[in-house]
Amino acid sequence: MGVIFLDKLVIKGNTKLKGEVHISGAKNAAVALIPATLLIEGVCTITNVPNISDVKISCEILEQLGSKITWISNNEIIIDNTDINCTDAPLDMTSKFRASYYLIGSLLGRCGRAVVGLPGGCNLGARPIDQHIKGFEALGTKVEIAQGKISASAKNLIGTSIYMDMVSVGATINVMLASVLAKGTTIIENAAKEPHVVDVANFLNTMGADIRGAGTDVIKVNGVQKLQGNASYSVVPDQIEAGTFMLSAVATKGDITIRNCIPEHLDCLTAKIIELGANVEVDNDSIRVWTNKKINSTNIKTQPYPGFPTDLQPQMGVCLAIANGTSIIREDIWDSRFQYTAELNKMGAQITDQGKSAIFQGVKELYGAPVSASDLRAGAALIIAAIVAKGESTLTNLSHIDRGYENIEEKFRNLGANIQRISE
Ligand code: UD1
Repeated sequence: MGVIFLDKLVIKGNTKLKGEVHISGAKNAAVALIPATLLIEGVCTITNVPNISDVKISCEILEQLGSKITWISNNEIIIDNTDINCTDAPLDMTSKFRASYYLIGSLLGRCGRAVVGLPGGCNLGARPIDQHIKGFEALGTKVEIAQGKISASAKNLIGTSIYMDMVSVGATINVMLASVLAKGTTIIENAAKEPHVVDVANFLNTMGADIRGAGTDVIKVNGVQKLQGNASYSVVPDQIEAGTFMLSAVATKGDITIRNCIPEHLDCLTAKIIELGANVEVDNDSIRVWTNKKINSTNIKTQPYPGFPTDLQPQMGVCLAIANGTSIIREDIWDSRFQYTAELNKMGAQITDQGKSAIFQGVKELYGAPVSASDLRAGAALIIAAIVAKGESTLTNLSHIDRGYENIEEKFRNLGANIQRISE
């Protein structure tokens, strides 16, 4: 009989985090760039790749489709997509993570056909992909969903205007991928403006695409015949990882300098941290956050970029759980993003989950407790809470965290956290 090892983190808290942390490449960009390479009939190099499990699965899926992938260091890969020989992505692997939907746009662009398992990923409530499908169909694709998989095929992809009914990162990127090699011009209106949307457009343009307007709400893709490849591209620094460490400085009343980040991507968070009463100093590619006093309460509403990112909502929730007074968070992107609040309450927080909103009654202290990560960002939030809390906490369900944070416990340990990973 096989043995299953379940990792847990044991964290002894009451620590003020101090020092410097180096931010990795963005998960949400990397998991789009890797399938995007399928559009290149040749070789390209990607650097600043975060070494996380979602990236490893993305690479394994590409290998099954015929890619040759070489890791030349911990964070650099060479991808040779000369011989893509399959358009059916392995269902068991694609259903493991959300970003597998990018295989549809990429394979459609490259081969005119894609079969991909319905995407999995964090359990944040309903995660429809109707806008992706609407975009593919507008470009001339026939899409069928049956038996847990999506089959898409197109004789010719023809550029057109597509209005997104809501701002969707995934649908914007996916339609961009499908239209890069289409005939004519595709216009995506009400496009997402997140940094990783811009990063995918920059990557594709570096490889020979003609995409304009990424970062605004209208993206224009002039179809080209071929992407040349033969170039190297560095993944944008992870906005959410940087924000996670900014908020861990606030929550622990610490002093952290976050290196290798793009401060403009964090303007909204910086403004909120100043409202909380903490200090922020911004340099070219670094941000220092520090405070030594109890923070103020505030209200947060999650929104698409440049609004407050839903992926930093749980980490902000930890700060508000120990702020002076009452704060309200309204979550407008996902239906089930307050699962972490029940775990924080086990640590002494007083949070009332009201569905779309949660009310945070600031408490004096948190106390160590056994808690479990319901999703990736909830996991990051609970690590921060455990570092703040008096006593010892154990955190389980780490596979969520490993999907998206590179060397997370080492990074926290270097800032002074007492954190150990134990396999059982
Ligand atoms: C991406 C991020 C995720 C982040 C989210 C919002 C990746 C791999 N993941 O997810 O970490 O939390 O953006 O910033 O980049 N929607 C529809 N129909 C669609 C598509 C989306 O109704 O076809 C809705 C969703 O239910 C959600 C909202 O639009 O309410 C935004 O979703 P979207 O931006 O697409 O999120 P993802 O790309 O899945």
